Amino acid sequence: MTRTAVVTGGASGIGLQIVKRLLADGWRAWSLDISPALSDSTGPSSEHAEMFNHLACDVSDAASVQAAFEQIENQSERIDALICSAGVLRTGRLMDQLPEHIDMMMDVNIKGPWLVTRRAVPLLKKGSIPRQPARVVFIGSISGIRPKVGSGFYAASKAALHVLAGVLAVELADAGILVNTVAPGSVATPMLSDPSGPAGAGTGFQPSGMSPLGRIAEPDDVADVVLFFLGESSRYVTGTVLPVDGGTRAAFSSK
Ligand SMILES: NC(=O)c1ccc[n+]([C@@H]2O[C@H](COP(=O)([O-])OP(=O)(O)OC[C@H]3O[C@@H](n4cnc5c(N)ncnc54)[C@H](O)[C@@H]3O)[C@@H](O)[C@H]2O)c1
Repeated sequence: MTRTAVVTGGASGIGLQIVKRLLADGWRAWSLDISPALSDSTGPSSEHAEMFNHLACDVSDAASVQAAFEQIENQSERIDALICSAGVLRTGRLMDQLPEHIDMMMDVNIKGPWLVTRRAVPLLKKGSIPRQPARVVFIGSISGIRPKVGSGFYAASKAALHVLAGVLAVELADAGILVNTVAPGSVATPMLSDPSGPAGAGTGFQPSGMSPLGRIAEPDDVADVVLFFLGESSRYVTGTVLPVDGGTRAAFSSK
């Protein structure tokens, strides 16, 4: 039976890589994003066009989430997995952050995953069968475990997401839905590399950069771990926050 996944933030970076990996593994994938799907060679391959749908959706807006799920329900009576990757970063020292940026991070990074999960749960329940529970995976951040100067509110939003995921894992256990969080360190995506993006100079924000493993993560390093949380091997794992940071937070280093 073809398995179906919904991926928020599927138009870019980590979410896009997860979509591509799911399609390559034979899943049907729904991408929900405020940005349009990439139609060039960096987007999902046209060979998977029948198994891929992209919907314009603002995850922080309940009506937009409702509209997206109505479209999903027209074609899929159940879903097997939800991956919440949509997220925003606005940097700045705490005394300098703009209230509208704080609202945006709280809305997209915390309320968004809650709105989407709340709407997905009835479909996930239908996708859950004994020994093959449905899955929810949140993309948190290592900054929610070890925060950085220059991104305090982003770190707070991710720490809050980690907490919500743990509570959800317990609340949804009876429904046969496993909830886990992947917490990446710096990953080479537009969020960090786009020169017109928010992680600019003068904010005090420093990406983690090189990890003890000697490189910055690629989106696939994160997608691999997400795939583990969607697979048979993780059937008894729920409520965890798993760092995918090349050891960055494990110990302070003078290097
Ligand atoms: N890149 C990193 O270094 C890094 C590190 C740790 C955690 N993360 C987290 O990983 C996740 C993915 O980030 P990324 O690096 O792939 O960034 P990205 O900017 O490449 O992708 C984020 C996607 O989310 C979408 N998005 C933003 N607001 C949205 C909204 N309101 N509704 C729907 N979609 C929205 C964007 O359009 C974009 O496609 C985020 O939650 C981010 O916080 C990233």
